[in-house]
Amino acid sequence: MAYDNVVLEEVEAGIWRLTVNRPKSLNALNSATLDEIGAAAAEVGRDPGARVLLLTGSGEKAFVAGADISEMQAFTADEGHRFSMRAMAAFRTLETLPIPVIAVVRGYCLGGGLELAMACDWLLAGASAALGQPEVTLGVTPGFGGSQRLPRRIGTAMAMELILTGRRIDATEALRLGLVNHVHPDDRVMDEAIAMARDIAARGPIAVRLAKSLVVRGQDLDLDNACALESQAFGLSFSTEDQKEGMAAFLARRPAAFKGR
Ligand code: HXC
Repeated sequence: MAYDNVVLEEVEAGIWRLTVNRPKSLNALNSATLDEIGAAAAEVGRDPGARVLLLTGSGEKAFVAGADISEMQAFTADEGHRFSMRAMAAFRTLETLPIPVIAVVRGYCLGGGLELAMACDWLLAGASAALGQPEVTLGVTPGFGGSQRLPRRIGTAMAMELILTGRRIDATEALRLGLVNHVHPDDRVMDEAIAMARDIAARGPIAVRLAKSLVVRGQDLDLDNACALESQAFGLSFSTEDQKEGMAAFLARRPAAFKGR
């Protein structure tokens, strides 16, 4: 599919990269871009060979500097509501992909940008990353899920502080809060992300998908039901050729060659 505001590419077998590509406005998310993010995520979801999706922003200055303020400026209440729901739908498509989705963040990652990153499974940051939810400085609330996903990631009190002050944090503080998993020099972070994606792509693809779904689905369940789900998935793993290959390879002291079946 052709896109105007994002670039979708398979950087190597099974490793897809989605780049928000509006560098002149620091990759600000307008309606068209939100729709394209959802459509591109769905396109990756349709590829049975997909193993990992990396999500990033073009240029060195920003991942995404937020929702597009020029588009939002004249919104009515109803238009604001619909804009928010449009993003929620696109981000859910991304979040519910069966494969891992990693945000690769350099520079500004603000408002809708941080909300987009948090719809990914985890974040890798370049040292220049500056993250925050500055919506209250513009007289609005978060609208793309930040008030819900940020507390789930870093706890209520710190999320509350960041959302209510609009304070920006740097990569080091984001690392300490557990908002980003690792920090790398800006010029290395994409290579590190691809290396991590390669590692994941070499694992049992069915096991990776099942394990992701356990973490995602288990979060909304009580511990007994969540553990029951894990037992089912573990049992299911033994119906795959990948399990036989993985364990045979271990015992033969050779690398496993998984086929994803
Ligand atoms: C539209 C934006 C933008 C945005 C930057 N630009 N952020 N356009 N929406 N969110 C544009 C600028 O207008 C400018 O365009 C160009 O990008 C470069 O930005 P500058 O401000 O000149 O760069 P700089 O001085 O380096 O400052 C960078 C910045 C600042 C600190 C990131 O741009 C900034 O504060 N941006 C807004 C950040 C923000 O508040 N985001 C949250 C938005 S609300 P021109 O044409 O002048 O060159 C949000 C809500 C989500 O995300 C939920 C909605 C439902």
